[in-house]
Amino acid sequence: MRKEPLKLGFMASGRGSNLQSILSACKDGTLNAVPVVVISNKRDSGALQIASANHIPGVYLSPSTHPDPNQLDKEIAGTLTEYGVELLVLAGYMKKIGPNTLKVFHNRIINIHPSLLPAYGGAGMFGIKVHEAVLAAGEPLTGATVHQVNEKYDEGRILAQTEVKVKDTDTAETLAARILEQEHQLYVKALQDIISGKIDLDA
Ligand code: GAR
Repeated sequence: MRKEPLKLGFMASGRGSNLQSILSACKDGTLNAVPVVVISNKRDSGALQIASANHIPGVYLSPSTHPDPNQLDKEIAGTLTEYGVELLVLAGYMKKIGPNTLKVFHNRIINIHPSLLPAYGGAGMFGIKVHEAVLAAGEPLTGATVHQVNEKYDEGRILAQTEVKVKDTDTAETLAARILEQEHQLYVKALQDIISGKIDLDA
């Protein structure tokens, strides 16, 4: 088990509740990790506000700041490297990770997805759309998945999963809320297991 806190970089597009729960776990010692930078493709995201409130550098990088996708990808990898990121944590990041970033952080990028992957993953399956699809299909069970990130949406190695029962009375919103509570716990637990070596990212 390593003694030095693991340097975490984050990418997030929205509200940032998963980011917040991991930051809290870093702060209270649940995680032997230190957040070093938050990158967002949305200038006014909750995630960047959370970064600022926690005195963590926040960086806005998007097709607006870098219209060339290659340049954007290089800037993202460069920023993460500059801050010494050892593990990149995607926390509601709704864009694909570019080939350069994937190469520089090979096996060192993880994501959380609000379904039991491989079900209800892939392009266009994110956020509330996942829960709408689960309800439309009449699934009795759904959940959340932490997985490694590769060049295909939601197809990297599954590291941890948690199940959530669908209720007859669920709407996409109530289901999303119940799963989100579980996501917060699952992501922190997966990070604990990565840091302790129980999960080997190079396996
Ligand atoms: C979370 O439910 C996360 O699983 C989902 O977006 C939400 C972000 O919430 N991610 C995806 O759908 C990725 N494909 P947050 O901003 O409050 O953490």
